[in-house]
Amino acid sequence: MFDPYKVRQDFPMFRNKIQMQDHDLVFLDNASTTFKPQCVIDAMNYYNEFETTNSARGDYDTMYHVDQKIHKTRQLIADFINADVDEIVFTSGATASLNLVAFGYFANHLKKDDEILITVAEHASNTLPWYKLQEIIGCKVKFIPLTEEGRLTVENVEKTITKNTKVISVANVTNVLGFYTDMKPICDLAHKYGILVVCDGAQSVPHVKTDVKRLGLDFLGFSGHKMLGPTGIGVLFGRKELLKETQPIFYGGGMNEVFEMNGSYVLHDVPAKLEGGTKNIQAIYGLGAAIEYINNLGLENISKYEKELRAYTLEKMKKVKDIIIYNENAESGIIAFNMKGVFAQDLATLLNSKGIACRSGNHCAKNLKNQIHEIATVRCSLYFYNTKEEIDIFVDALKEGGNFLDAYFA
Ligand code: ALA
Repeated sequence: MFDPYKVRQDFPMFRNKIQMQDHDLVFLDNASTTFKPQCVIDAMNYYNEFETTNSARGDYDTMYHVDQKIHKTRQLIADFINADVDEIVFTSGATASLNLVAFGYFANHLKKDDEILITVAEHASNTLPWYKLQEIIGCKVKFIPLTEEGRLTVENVEKTITKNTKVISVANVTNVLGFYTDMKPICDLAHKYGILVVCDGAQSVPHVKTDVKRLGLDFLGFSGHKMLGPTGIGVLFGRKELLKETQPIFYGGGMNEVFEMNGSYVLHDVPAKLEGGTKNIQAIYGLGAAIEYINNLGLENISKYEKELRAYTLEKMKKVKDIIIYNENAESGIIAFNMKGVFAQDLATLLNSKGIACRSGNHCAKNLKNQIHEIATVRCSLYFYNTKEEIDIFVDALKEGGNFLDAYFA
């Protein structure tokens, strides 16, 4: 039986008891980043204390251990998403992964008037790289309409596809509305028309099983720090034949086999070709430990518990006077809300004064205002270490917040 109280003991951020008001910090901003369990911190420390070397550049034992560890971690990640080991590229995060896809692959495969389909619910990192390609190449970014509640459907994808569509790039779980899209029918449809599918997995991979082969994804990007790992490390999955056609963004050490004074050079095969420069090795150690930790807990247990906690949270939030919830039916642990007549940032500031961390604003999804007709929301985002007790504190603060703000604005 999954026990959030037991797992919390693994996290120094809880152990250290950040005393806020009369309770510990209630951290409900997990879509932004997650706390790190001790094993992740230990793994990083281990590298820094006992195995500090570069990688793939030396003939001595310590570096051999580091190379082995990097390979094992790459394999662990590949197994986690059911990919092949050489389809995993280390990047600095989901943003870097999506930029590598856009500028490393599509910049060389799109031409004027080709169409890129995204949605208004996408994060900046799955919007701006495509805007930039539009500027450079003259290809067109088009928006797949969402349903009234903000969902992406395969029917709407089909209606938006034209003979010029070359790529569909969407989040598996969007970062504000938190709707989950089944990527399989979208990939099946796209491939029927010879269209490639890029998936932003930043908000999904840490929470639900992602099987790139079953879904048929062409590219998938995600971050380490949203799944208990450190910041500064992320992953790009790409089907091998696509990665082979992807041009590096960074040229330098570790990615070339040979270069000569006449300007000729030969690059390594993937994934090394796409990982120029010294890797963030300590973060790779940390990410490996994070994935092992998640595997030990069981991703199905995490998903199940988050669903229960979301249902509990919603039930309580719905009873709060003047609350507006934008994504009641979302599958993820993300709840976007506002309080009638109160600016989102004021509400988040008030929650902060009560020791509760929630993000407010547009959450880097600045086109979403066209869908929900609000420029800012407050976002509560859950992870498996959040408890019902924390939700009670949060909802009590919301109730009090309403009164406080009523008095303020009276
Ligand atoms: N992408 C992160 C978020 O949604 C930062 O908060």
